[in-house]
Amino acid sequence: MAVDRLVDEYKITHPKSQELHDRAARIFAADGATARIRILNPYRPYITHAKGSKKWDIDGNEYIDYVMGHGAMLLGHSHPAIVKALQEQAAKGTHYGDNHELEVAWAELIQSMVPSAERVEFFACGQEANLFAIKLARIFTQRSKILRFVENFHGWADELVPTPISPSVVADAVKIIPYDLDRVEEELATKEYAILMTEGGGAHMSGQIPLDFEFVRTLPGLAHKYGTVWFLDEVVTGFRDAPGGFQSIVGVKSDLTSLGKIVAGGIGAGALVGRADIMGLLSPETPANRRMIHTGTWNANPLASATGIAALKLCQDGKPQRKANEMAASLRKEGNQLFKEKGVDGWLYGRSITHVYLGPFDCQPTDDTVPPTKDISKITGMGGAKTRLSHHLLHRGISTMAARHLILSCMHTIKDVNKTVDALADSLDAMIEEGSIKSRS
Ligand SMILES: Cc1ncc(COP(=O)(O)O)c(C=O)c1O
Repeated sequence: MAVDRLVDEYKITHPKSQELHDRAARIFAADGATARIRILNPYRPYITHAKGSKKWDIDGNEYIDYVMGHGAMLLGHSHPAIVKALQEQAAKGTHYGDNHELEVAWAELIQSMVPSAERVEFFACGQEANLFAIKLARIFTQRSKILRFVENFHGWADELVPTPISPSVVADAVKIIPYDLDRVEEELATKEYAILMTEGGGAHMSGQIPLDFEFVRTLPGLAHKYGTVWFLDEVVTGFRDAPGGFQSIVGVKSDLTSLGKIVAGGIGAGALVGRADIMGLLSPETPANRRMIHTGTWNANPLASATGIAALKLCQDGKPQRKANEMAASLRKEGNQLFKEKGVDGWLYGRSITHVYLGPFDCQPTDDTVPPTKDISKITGMGGAKTRLSHHLLHRGISTMAARHLILSCMHTIKDVNKTVDALADSLDAMIEEGSIKSRS
């Protein structure tokens, strides 16, 4: 087998992680990992603790963290206000199996921040909220079909995943189309669709394939024209793009919106918010044949409620979001300069979540919120080179989501950004030398 210097060196500095990986591989079927994004050859590090923008592994290696709890940790790791809320609530009970004041205060905070939130409903995670939205829309419209956009991700269920693994199960129910208003209208005009689903910001983590704001502004009107519920998935963008989410920066109101990640400040939870007439189907006064029933052991559990309140209070004035955006803008500027200097076709773009583009440019973007092409296969392509880049970065103390996304928090600093750019420079040099990426210079 060919010698892989990176893998060999990585194994030397991560021996205890290797031991844990060997144990994990005997239990967790996905090569020892508990989520797809945690799979890496030979293995990702095993983390022992995290604080602010950093995390540390069992071998004592330090990382600047750009995974940030899959986007949940806008406030950074172990924020004192979240730790306090968690500790105090743990001592008072973690599950009452009954109503409590915190759930009311949490929902009121969400309502005060998200203008479309006439009603609020809590869940164990974001995907659950999305499935609930589909069911509500079906009952409300008395239709069954789901219209979705290409590559848009809403969870792992067949109704929600970009490419269903069991297509036959959902083929009659789900239609996936490109970002094309004519196609949207053509489908909606059949009047078969209960719901039009849209990922906040665009496909993958707030818009790796970004949505044009004018396009988004047209969607609610079109959906309503044909009696379809317009749903916006703000599991990632909610509270991150702005206190009022992606919809507030675009200037639209969705009929139903899902929230997750930041909504509970780092504890697992989700929420669905939206129009009172649609969510009113939950009322016991709704006739039984149209009534929506909501069960769920973890709905509005006291721990998530306590940390959710603590997190949203901190996000209300938009300061954490501005800080994360500022640091991300510096990272994009320095990183893009570096790609140019190294002669590598690469581009960083996005908002507080920064996406990595590798490959040929179709145009020189005038701003760094968009990729240098509209070709989806190019945007999502170069997976092998991105994985290799992510490993080189990890080996140099930078933890990313497979070098596809770098997720920033308000705890990231200019020092972190500078260190990251240095690590990117070293990684690109190593990749050029080993031949896993090309340089034009
Ligand atoms: C846009 C979007 N929607 C829904 C989900 C699913 O949320 P959860 O993992 O909390 O179920 C995710 C997860 O990353 C997501 O990115």
